[in-house]
Amino acid sequence: MTRTVRSLEKTQQALEEALRQARHALIQTIHTISAIASRSDRYTALHQEQVAALATGIGRRLGLEAHHLEGLYLGALVHDIGKIAVPAELISKPGKLTPEEYSLVKTHVRAGVDMLENVSLPWPVQLIIGQHHERLDGSGYPLGLSGAAIGIEARISAVADVFEAICQPRPYREARGCAEALAELERGAGIAYDREAVDALGSLVREAGSQDFWTYIDSADFSSTVILA
Ligand SMILES: [Fe+2]
Repeated sequence: MTRTVRSLEKTQQALEEALRQARHALIQTIHTISAIASRSDRYTALHQEQVAALATGIGRRLGLEAHHLEGLYLGALVHDIGKIAVPAELISKPGKLTPEEYSLVKTHVRAGVDMLENVSLPWPVQLIIGQHHERLDGSGYPLGLSGAAIGIEARISAVADVFEAICQPRPYREARGCAEALAELERGAGIAYDREAVDALGSLVREAGSQDFWTYIDSADFSSTVILA
């Protein structure tokens, strides 16, 4: 082996190591952003973690590649980051929101996108934040996008987001349960929600069987294997 080839190999190894470290630092930064935001709002903190784990499980079922799974996990982990710009009393309001209050809560999408506007990431994190309330039939917000205009990562995050929101308790109501959450998504599959993502969710629910669904998702550990890949 010539000295030039050895030197090229060393340079390549050094570049690969630098890239690995940069990627690791970005992942850690997104985790830190999520953790900081979690301090003021426990509901959103747990919600984002569970949506991220579930979305990654759905993404795996749909055969997404490692890089897409990674982006899906990280985007879902901060999808509601904009809620820190919404008055805390609205996020944790025990009663029904007035139309004006609901309009204010909806601004969390735009606020989240704005927060990360100048951050260049190798994953579609901002897209997931910006599109997780869009619906296939155009009934979502903030832009009323429809069909393929909504990225696959956002469509998967939407399914995981709605499922978690119905399944788990909220400040304004008791938990409605995972069976009801799945039924609601199945009614909207192919209309508001991505049918394949809903089917994949259904297979996870069946696989969990009688055990607590979130304990099952936790033990399946879909996300850590993505991040460590
Ligand atoms: Fe949201």
